[in-house]
Order: sequence, then structure tokens, then C-alpha cells
Amino acid sequence: MSERTEADTVAVEVREAIAWVKFNRPEKRNSMSPKLNRQMLRVLNDLEFRDDVGVLVLTGAGTAWSAGMDLKEYFRETEAQGLKGVRHSQREAYAWWERLRWYQKVTIAMVNGWCFGGAYGPLFACDLAFCSEDAEFGLSEINWGILPGGGASKVAADLMPMRKAMYHALLGETLTGRQAEAAGLVNEALPADRLQERVTEVAKKLLMKNRETLKATKDAMRRVREMTYDSAEDYLIRAQEALNWHDKTDGRHRGMKQFLDDKSYKPGLSAYEKSK
Ligand code: COA
Repeated sequence: MSERTEADTVAVEVREAIAWVKFNRPEKRNSMSPKLNRQMLRVLNDLEFRDDVGVLVLTGAGTAWSAGMDLKEYFRETEAQGLKGVRHSQREAYAWWERLRWYQKVTIAMVNGWCFGGAYGPLFACDLAFCSEDAEFGLSEINWGILPGGGASKVAADLMPMRKAMYHALLGETLTGRQAEAAGLVNEALPADRLQERVTEVAKKLLMKNRETLKATKDAMRRVREMTYDSAEDYLIRAQEALNWHDKTDGRHRGMKQFLDDKSYKPGLSAYEKSK
């Protein structure tokens, strides 16, 4: 096929408050080229504060989720431009992963196939991850002479126990979806024909919850990992107080009222009714 336009490297569809965002270079196994990286940041910017979007799902067209960085367009061609080209393309990639890590909406990686190297950046950036049992995950960098950069080493070391992470990085063997689940890279591995159904089910549950509280919670879970207990305790007090201001729907008082006064639900078992 003729070369894909920049705009066509990412596909987006919003259905019932879920934004389905797809890496869309199946002919190159959705490897991340500078064009794709730029387009992904544009797409994320466009969706981030839309009221009709509550949850974002990141998935891939064809047989891959993403085969990592594009060896030709991201590495070889930018290296030919010298340090300026390399740093520029690194910044374009890291920019959208960072945006995704701190995204306003809850994000779910729906890993439908190959997931290699640089793809661990967006994998980690998504708050939750579900994969197909036949997906394959690998830190393949060792197999072509580089170390797992672009955050990939950090992702493996953060998500996996040390021995497993080290083996994964040094051997460059792939993990099946089930093994990735056992290693902590994803929440669940599912049969391919159940994957979208399960992700939709989880997204719909998230849509029932207070959006501001979801954002405060996901940020808290990421921030506290790097804090001492005392710092975390203090951060969480400040974050809750900020949430009280941000949440114009006054969710916590509604929740308390529906439990204590109306006795219409039990917070231990489900979310309060947002429309009441
Ligand atoms: N960078 C650039 N091109 C890539 C790519 C990548 N990361 N991954 C796949 N492609 C391209 C191939 O070069 C091929 O292009 P061509 O049709 O112009 O020859 C096309 O995508 C299809 O790839 P192919 O290898 O034939 O597909 P496959 O389904 O048999 O194998 C993979 C899929 C993912 C196992 C294999 O493509 C692969 O090993 N890719 C590299 C993965 C990697 O190491 N990524 C880490 C980068 S940090």
C-alpha cells in the first residue's frame, strides 16, 4: 500500500462514552513511527476533556497491539539526522506516554496481539491492562543490540518481581498473555473472542463512578508508589481536599446521604447513584 498519512496512523471511535483509540499501522505491526507519535498526542489532546468520553481504551489494528518503536523511521532515519533528530523524536514519543500516564480519563490497554519494547511505555501509561491469551509480550531490545530504553526497563522493574524482570530483559524471550498476567504486566488475560467484551464490561463499570474521584484515585495510586508513608499520607489529605473543590457534583456528600439517610445502597458493594 502507499504510505499512510499522519492522520491515518491512529483510528478513533467514540461509542457510549468509551473512546476506542487504535494504533493503526497494521502493515507495520503498529510500530511507533514519529508520525504515529505526533498523531497520537493530537488524538489524546482532542479527547481528554470531552464530556462525552468517560473512559479511553487503547488497542491495535490487525495482529499487533504495538511492535514497539519503528526501527526504520524512529531509530534509523532519526539517527541519520544526528542528536537533534534523535532527541526530537524521543520527545514526541515520551510526550504522549506521559500525557497518558496522567490522563484526565481512566485508560485501559486492550492488548490484542504483539507488544514489544517501546510499547511497554504506553502499556504502563494505561491505568488498567487486559490482553488476549494469544498476545505476546517481549523486551526484544537485547535481541538487536540495545538496552530496553524509553522507560521499558523501568516498566518491567516496576511491574514485575525483580528476578522475572531481569530474566525478561536479558533473555528477550516472549511471554504469552497468561504469563504476562502472572508476571503482573496486565490485569487479566482472556480468550481473544472475549477480550473486547470484558474490556467493555470494565469500562461500563467505571462509567458508573464519579469521574473526578476516578482521576484523583488513579493519580494517587501512581504518586504514592514513590513516596514515604508520611509523605503519602500528607499528599492524600491534600489530594482529597483538592477533590472536594474539583468535584462540583459533591459526590461524597451524595454517597453519604444515599447510604446513611436514604439507605438506598451500600458503598461496600457498589457506587452511589450519580443521577440522584
Ligand atoms: N519497526 C519497524 N518495522 C517493523 C517493526 C518495527 N518494530 N515491527 C514490524 N515491522 C514491519 C516489518 O519490517 C514488516 O515490514 P515489510 O512488510 O515492509 O517488510 C512488517 O512490519 C510486518 O512485519 P513481519 O515481521 O513480517 O510480521 P510478523 O507478524 O511475521 O512478525 C513481529 C511480527 C512483531 C514478531 C516482528 O515484526 C518483529 O519482531 N518486530 C520487531 C519487534 C521489536 O523488536 N520491537 C522492539 C522495538 S523497540
